Amino acid sequence: MNEQQALRAIELDRHFIGDDEIGLQDGMRIYKSPRMKLSHPAVIRDLFSDEIKHFIRSYTAAQVKIKYGRPYDDHLFKRYCVHNASFFVDLHKGLVDRASEIFGEKVKKSYCLLSMYRDKGVCPLHTDRIQCVYTLDYCISQGEPWDIYVDDKPYQLQEGEALAFSGTASPHYRSPIKEGNFCNLVYFHFVPERLTCSLD
Ligand SMILES: [Fe+2]
Repeated sequence: MNEQQALRAIELDRHFIGDDEIGLQDGMRIYKSPRMKLSHPAVIRDLFSDEIKHFIRSYTAAQVKIKYGRPYDDHLFKRYCVHNASFFVDLHKGLVDRASEIFGEKVKKSYCLLSMYRDKGVCPLHTDRIQCVYTLDYCISQGEPWDIYVDDKPYQLQEGEALAFSGTASPHYRSPIKEGNFCNLVYFHFVPERLTCSLD
């Protein structure tokens, strides 16, 4: 465990009560939030109005145009991505109250990530870092649905729908994307309001 991971583990110990450790990842302990009981992730169909959905699609299409043909930003997941794009940061701020309702406790936003998958895109089985205690995984646009497995159960998102789940509590993955398919997603991550770790 390096120093940064040790500091995170200390933060976790300070802010998470209860004996709900679920495993080890790269030497870092992963905990369920004491109030996080999302063993059944939820599909959210009305996260944004039609007008906002349209803006999101247009913004993302422009990003794809800029990125396409370049090497992937993330070679592990084989995807293009943009971290905390100001367009999405503004939307993220507007989701905090809704996310608190969905996840059953007061949350604050951490970071958001636009992820654009093309050929060879994959999402290996993993749990997320502490900044992703709660996730809204929003499907912007796609060729055809690309299942996400959370706790080994498949969920299929249509464009404009989001999956609410805990990225730290629930292992999740996607199989390699079918050739010719594409999927543009944005992840809005939240943490309990009381958590004082870095939000980036
Ligand atoms: Fe993840």
